[in-house]
Amino acid sequence: SGERTQEVDEASKARGTRVRVFGRVHRERKQKDVLFVTLRDGHGYMQCVLTGPLAKTFDALTLTRETSMMITGEMREVLAGAHAPDNRELHADYFEILGKAPGGEDAVTNKVQAKGDAQTLLDMRHLVLRGETASSVMFVRDAVEHAFNCKYHDLGYTKVSPPALVQTQVEGGSTLFGFNYYGENAYLTQSSQLYLETAIPFAGNVYCIEKSFRAEKSLTRRHLSEYTHVEAELDFITFDDLLAHLEDIICGVLEIVLGNPRIAAMLQDLNPDFQMPERPFMRMKYADAIAWLKDHDIPNEEGHPHAFGDDIAEAAERRMTDIINRPIFLTHFPAAIKSFYMQKDAEDPRVTESVDCLMPGVGEIVGGSMRMYDYEELLEAYKREGIGAEAYYWYTDQRRYGTSPHGGYGLGLERFLAWLCKQHTVRDTCLYPRYMGRCKP
Ligand code: 4AD
Ligand code: MG
Repeated sequence: SGERTQEVDEASKARGTRVRVFGRVHRERKQKDVLFVTLRDGHGYMQCVLTGPLAKTFDALTLTRETSMMITGEMREVLAGAHAPDNRELHADYFEILGKAPGGEDAVTNKVQAKGDAQTLLDMRHLVLRGETASSVMFVRDAVEHAFNCKYHDLGYTKVSPPALVQTQVEGGSTLFGFNYYGENAYLTQSSQLYLETAIPFAGNVYCIEKSFRAEKSLTRRHLSEYTHVEAELDFITFDDLLAHLEDIICGVLEIVLGNPRIAAMLQDLNPDFQMPERPFMRMKYADAIAWLKDHDIPNEEGHPHAFGDDIAEAAERRMTDIINRPIFLTHFPAAIKSFYMQKDAEDPRVTESVDCLMPGVGEIVGGSMRMYDYEELLEAYKREGIGAEAYYWYTDQRRYGTSPHGGYGLGLERFLAWLCKQHTVRDTCLYPRYMGRCKP
């Protein structure tokens, strides 16, 4: 194996160090008798310069993008006025082709650019991912996931891994993916929340980063059928503790991510206007949001002025968030429009101790709440929701064996990334998006 592009450090370029790099042709450009090849190896880019007889070999003359190759040579500083990544280039004295990529009709540029409509790009996602924008988003995604793990561990949280195959619903029957499990009915999990709640009695504060599945029958730019869900459950807390923790985790993760120079540079390209959110985040009660929407003549889904009890639909929510243009904690949603497990507000039992975190450009990225921790109340809630309590015996037991005031939340990783990387849709913030009508590549 050779050096990785990023291991060839600043000092070595002047010393004339000999290096050997492996990678794929990201770009190639011929200028008179000189061939400039930008090699990509996942760690960075390296400009390589082929001159003399080397540039006249058959392989050099027919070199195509995405061809994989090995190049050896000497590191040199780039001449004044010229441009190369990190201001260095490799002057080649030898190269070998490892795997050619097609040119002409089948060239990667034709596949991903010429017919650049959204569906073709999604069919060609395996090739699109090799591009700078798509791959930067994937590198940021990796950094964000890593930062969540670091931040949770700093805070003393334990990571657990709940099952994906379940026999209970969390967020309503309409988005369940059901399947035949050895002759029994089962579902792909909508959220790991209920399982996380059963882990707090042994572990204290817990979190997980798992897939969640939703049979979303509408096509929007923020809904996927399979998404990555960052979820946490906090034991012995108040609703205010939950909100403070959310600010801490979101900003803490951003600080870790931006502290990585390579990732910070990518973010600068993807989202040059990004600003660290100011703490504390704005807090807005659902009832005040309804009044705000009415004042701003933003109608509800039926086209009428918003009224207490209405769902705040995606379009209205996003318009509000875009106008306010900073993170918002939207709190105290009516019990009637929220999930069965949410704790009621002691002062106003019409509403729940619930929170959505809204971000400009995307809207809701987090949904959370305090959990109903009284046994009898939970049994009532099952009834109201038409849920058979038997399947939930393990969840109910949390309330029978030493219950506690606790709460938690779920953050959609793809939505968080759409906001952070300023991407129009969550389809561009996961490796291979799954949504109604698409299950390939
Ligand atoms: O608001 P949701 O449905 O809440 C729950 O699932 C809770 N049980 C989570 C919890 O408290 N542990 O989903 C939480 C978040 C949303 O705010 C959104 O970011 C994301 O998950 N999300 C989706 N992301 C992409 N595609 C979908 N279809 C999504 N549905 C929810
Ligand atoms: Mg929600």
